[in-house]
Amino acid sequence: MSPSPSNAATSLTNRPTLGISSLIHGADYNPEQWSDHPEILAADLSLIPQAGLNCVSLGIFSWSALEPEEGRFSFRWLDTLMDNLHARGTRVIMATPSAGRPVWLSRRYEEVRCVGRDGKRSGIGGRLNLCPSSPVWRDKVSIINRQLATRYAYHPAVVLWHVSNELSNECFCNLCFVGFRRWLQSAYSTIDYLNKAWWNSFWSHSFTSFEDIVELDGSITGMNLDWKRFQSDVYVDYVRSEMAPLRLANPNIPITTNFVPSCRVPEQRRMVAELDVVSWDAYPGWHTGDDLACAANNAFFADLYRVMAHKKPLLQMETTPSQVNWGTDSPLKRPGVHRLTALQAIAHGADGVSYFQWRAGRGGCEQFHGAVIDHTNTADTRVVGEVTEVGRDFKALGKVIGSPVVSSIGLVFEWDSLWAVEAASLVGNRRKDYEPTCVAHHRALWQQSHPIDVICCDDDLSAYRLIIAPMLYILDESRATRLRAWVAGGGTLVLSYFSGVVNEHGLAHLGGSPGPLRDVAGLWVEEIDALPGTRPPRILGQPNAVMDVGNLGTAIDYAAIVRLTGAESVASYVDEFYAGTPALTCHRFGRGECWFMAARMGHGALVTFYQALTARVGVSPVRADLPVGVTATRRGIGAEATTFLMNWTPQPLHGLAPYGCSYEAG
Ligand code: GLA
Ligand code: ZN
Repeated sequence: MSPSPSNAATSLTNRPTLGISSLIHGADYNPEQWSDHPEILAADLSLIPQAGLNCVSLGIFSWSALEPEEGRFSFRWLDTLMDNLHARGTRVIMATPSAGRPVWLSRRYEEVRCVGRDGKRSGIGGRLNLCPSSPVWRDKVSIINRQLATRYAYHPAVVLWHVSNELSNECFCNLCFVGFRRWLQSAYSTIDYLNKAWWNSFWSHSFTSFEDIVELDGSITGMNLDWKRFQSDVYVDYVRSEMAPLRLANPNIPITTNFVPSCRVPEQRRMVAELDVVSWDAYPGWHTGDDLACAANNAFFADLYRVMAHKKPLLQMETTPSQVNWGTDSPLKRPGVHRLTALQAIAHGADGVSYFQWRAGRGGCEQFHGAVIDHTNTADTRVVGEVTEVGRDFKALGKVIGSPVVSSIGLVFEWDSLWAVEAASLVGNRRKDYEPTCVAHHRALWQQSHPIDVICCDDDLSAYRLIIAPMLYILDESRATRLRAWVAGGGTLVLSYFSGVVNEHGLAHLGGSPGPLRDVAGLWVEEIDALPGTRPPRILGQPNAVMDVGNLGTAIDYAAIVRLTGAESVASYVDEFYAGTPALTCHRFGRGECWFMAARMGHGALVTFYQALTARVGVSPVRADLPVGVTATRRGIGAEATTFLMNWTPQPLHGLAPYGCSYEAG
């Protein structure tokens, strides 16, 4: 039930590449929307390279143009386009069209339309509303994929297959429940075992047979966890079925699917083994709040996908060249921000950046979404200017292709804990925030220019000096064994409130958290206070502690009260009935140390803590001389390395222009 290892430790070597000598600079292109406008299509052929792009993603939503009626295919328009693009040196990422489906298909075969949690089947239109279990759907997708593969698997312009788009919808239809029951039967063998694992004596929920399981019950945490695992496995199987005809036609064309950050299903780590290239879509909400927080959030996902990709090429498949149109407010990226974000993706390990979208359509609900070419229909725009500049940077940065980002800090982020925290009714439900908490810890280190790998417990941990596992809520024996051995061998582990609360089924550990790591942490949690926000307890460093942390501000949202069984207090609460008890502890275990952060702490406290801890562990940042607002990231090793300096503020800072980025060898 655990994700497959991505083996971060071997990131010291170069990754394979897409076999292209330049970084990919591309865009989603929807020529089928312009079939009545040959002059537009003709102009695009030269505008694309002129704007500094070397690649387009085709076909993502083209199904009805490719198969206007069931079994009648129309490829001529695409053949011509592909040849024309190739003649101008523009590469093609060819997508399978399953993210949107033709009306004839939706109408004729109802089962292909997913069913929502409320039991309602999705309508004819929309998109990404497929049922991954439906045999009819899989069959229809295989037919069109086979046609595409037969036609284009050897086309010289094609560099990559792009399977579907942002696969992430859950389906609650009968077919999916048949699969769920089968999945449960193979995981648990007997209904008795399942009832125990899910604690079904609660509220009289025991099932008498697997056939009883026909809907999701929000009051059974284990069921909700297993449902997410099942849907993830279905998607892995589904992607495999989409890929089969592509692989068969030409095994040498690599395949990806574009991941969407913060997605609950599928667990993307499970899917990576199927893919040749990892890619993700990034839509940071620039200028809607704190730009530094936004940059940090973007860095977190880049670090997650890089580690997931491990030895495979990484691409940022989508980002907007200007603004989105789905936010409450969608500000324009300020001058420089576009280049800065594109270079951030490269600095964190990507071998290319593509946009949604090349050209804005005249209609449809994305007509006002940012595009390289918008409704002004000219390349004489600020946006095209910035995109072209990125194209120049990418040409200059060819040597980073395939090179690693080397980190000795691992930050654990796991889908299991995300699902379990969200499924459980906790003592504080106002701000459970598993993902934002991981991002906050990552941010404190990122801001200090530390390279960080976002990992899971199953990864190879041997390359890390420091591992941070905030709110690692699910801690089963296998995870605990790996972490314990790693600490005993000399690693420094940070756990927090809500680390090690339950096992893999969501059942609470007896003896208090951090459950199976109580011995490693040298403490157990007796109670946890959920703070309504008024008069939060202050936290102060202990005099003469193993590490001086000074004033850590106040606890936020959660304050755990711990009992020490060997750990020593490094900071303690100043207020409340638990004043004087530890809020931060350190425990020597084997040749390593385990730190326990009992309270949720603010950004300032995290920065202070990690500054002291990285110095203690002996981990140095890429650059230590930078003002807040400027970060450094290094890609590559030794003389081959490139260091990127990035100014995330609207002021000139540290010799960089507002929102400026520079890069240099070393
Ligand atoms: C997603 C989709 C694209 C497009 C963009 C808009 O990333 O994959 O097709 O809808 O959002 O931001
Ligand atoms: Zn379904």
